[in-house]
Amino acid sequence: THQESRRLGTEPISIMKIVLCTGGGDAPGLNAVIRSVVLAAVHRGWEVFGSRRGFGGFLGDARIVPLGIDEVSGITHLGGTIIGTSSRGDPYRWPQLQLDESWVEVDRSDEVVSSFNEWGFDALIVVGGDGTMRIASGLGAKGIPIVGVPKTIDNDVTGTYVTFGFDTAVNIATDAIDKLHSTAQSHERVFVVELMGRHAGWIALNAGLAGTADVILLPEIRFDMDRVCDKIQQREAMGKPFSIIVVAEGAVPKNGSLSVAEAAKEGGADRLGGIGEVVASYISKKTGKETRSLTLGHLQRGGPPTTFDRLLALRFGAAAVRAVQERKFGEMVALVPPDVVTIPISESVGIPKRVPLDGDTIQTARDMGVSLGD
Ligand code: F6P
Repeated sequence: THQESRRLGTEPISIMKIVLCTGGGDAPGLNAVIRSVVLAAVHRGWEVFGSRRGFGGFLGDARIVPLGIDEVSGITHLGGTIIGTSSRGDPYRWPQLQLDESWVEVDRSDEVVSSFNEWGFDALIVVGGDGTMRIASGLGAKGIPIVGVPKTIDNDVTGTYVTFGFDTAVNIATDAIDKLHSTAQSHERVFVVELMGRHAGWIALNAGLAGTADVILLPEIRFDMDRVCDKIQQREAMGKPFSIIVVAEGAVPKNGSLSVAEAAKEGGADRLGGIGEVVASYISKKTGKETRSLTLGHLQRGGPPTTFDRLLALRFGAAAVRAVQERKFGEMVALVPPDVVTIPISESVGIPKRVPLDGDTIQTARDMGVSLGD
């Protein structure tokens, strides 16, 4: 077919018809990616569509809509994604309601492939985190020509120096820690701030260090609650009767377990949360200090992307369109400073990027006397 010969490169590229979807949790910068994909494609004379609610558009759960210059006007600075997303949208584990009102997971990946072909698309650009890249990899193996764009505030995608959304989340978290300092100091209190990041401590480490937290607890380092209390008491003895503790939602105490706010539902993953309160009540009992905990939650994912994230997202979107043009299917765009390059999606999937314990940021924390709870 015409479509097939274009894919095989046996005829010059004329008009391409591409489709874009955003999957998993939203992150500031998604709209900037959508804008740059659409403009770079339209600029080449291509047609662009968006699958609403992740892969939902392919499965009749949402629509597939045309995206043109008007649709992407004025969205670069907006948080969220104009085509929607879903955290329970894995076509391989699609949640389906049974007659007895229970849910089961069904594999609907073949339907995504047939829907893609029925629409006559030439390529799919998938924007998402590790979970979405795993789905993309599977759909690529089933014959869909795919280019991936990594996204997450957690910064845990292997192969890219950083993901867009991360810088914004770190800025929001740093700002929150800054604001807690005044009350901590005035009331001689301890504040425990729980930050997002799933099983990676990037947000907690960077915001904790920049916001001058006294203790930073990461998923990468099992922490001892008594060491945390020691630090608070050492500060007290030095005439500093207040402390700020930053804890990543995925941090695990020695002799303790991961705090899960809600166990996985069909098609989804465990929702983490609660460790901040666990740490705060231990501190309060052991030290007698007035201690408060605060979970920053989805504030870290909202609002306008920082300039850094906007630029990275715009660069990723345009690079994805270039990758489609060069038929680099099965590849994902990535920042390998100073350039945006492409790497095989398979080199990234299933290997979450975690904070290296021998990195200089961890060393900076230790050099400055910040306790990591170990
Ligand atoms: O992956 C981004 C993230 O915000 C994580 O930091 C967090 O654990 C998770 O998503 C929260 O998911 P949800 O939005 O489904 O509650």
